[in-house]
Amino acid sequence: MGRIPFMAGNWKMNRTVAEARELVREIKKAIAGVEDVEVAVAPPFTALYAVRQEVEGSSVRLGAQNLYWEEKGAYTGEVSPLMLKEIGCHYVIVGHSERRQLFGETDETVNRRIKAALAHGLAPIFCIGETLQEREDGKTFAVVERQIEGGLKGIGTGDLGHLVIAYEPVWAIGTGKTATPEQAEEVHRFIREKVKILHSVGFAESLRIQYGGSVTPENVKGLMAQKDIDGALVGGASLTSKTFAKIVRFREL
Ligand code: PGA
Repeated sequence: MGRIPFMAGNWKMNRTVAEARELVREIKKAIAGVEDVEVAVAPPFTALYAVRQEVEGSSVRLGAQNLYWEEKGAYTGEVSPLMLKEIGCHYVIVGHSERRQLFGETDETVNRRIKAALAHGLAPIFCIGETLQEREDGKTFAVVERQIEGGLKGIGTGDLGHLVIAYEPVWAIGTGKTATPEQAEEVHRFIREKVKILHSVGFAESLRIQYGGSVTPENVKGLMAQKDIDGALVGGASLTSKTFAKIVRFREL
């Protein structure tokens, strides 16, 4: 069976509750009638509940931008998988490069979060990708390999559920510099091969691998034409309904 394209908007630390409601309403309108593309939005925690109310009854799925690995307790400032589940999240972004770079996430903490998400029936959008320095040093594949092995450590194939991997070269995030379709495809193919070895051919073939990093309506079509690119994790361009809807409607471009 073919992989259904998956477009997700990562709103990062943008949009108040009122603004989030408005944005998701506009998005719903702008993507009405689109079939065969899965769509999710990941607002900040504070807007999850409101956005959940807005997407109820539509095909737009809700994602969170992070989670903690314990269910409850004395962890000031953290949000648990139970809370995300209750609020109606389907997805949760884990290991975003901003979390890794600015908030000290490691492969080990990413692994704990992925395990907690899966244990609670949340589908992780597991982010990996190399920095500019690592790419220039020829370490892209080694870095991505380490991140996959570390992030998925100790998780059986049968427990991976609806995990999604997002390949986001750090040098392309928010910079306007996208990887070329060929550059991205090369890494996506490598990721799929790696998952085949670590898990199974069947799981790897069904796994959706999103590309992320300055995806726009201008470059999405070329990226989506690649065999192993199954969608996009979109930051900046997901903050306006017009550009996000164009990305969702990449087939019509
Ligand atoms: P960008 O962000 O589209 O603004 O580059 C992508 C991401 O960080 O997920």
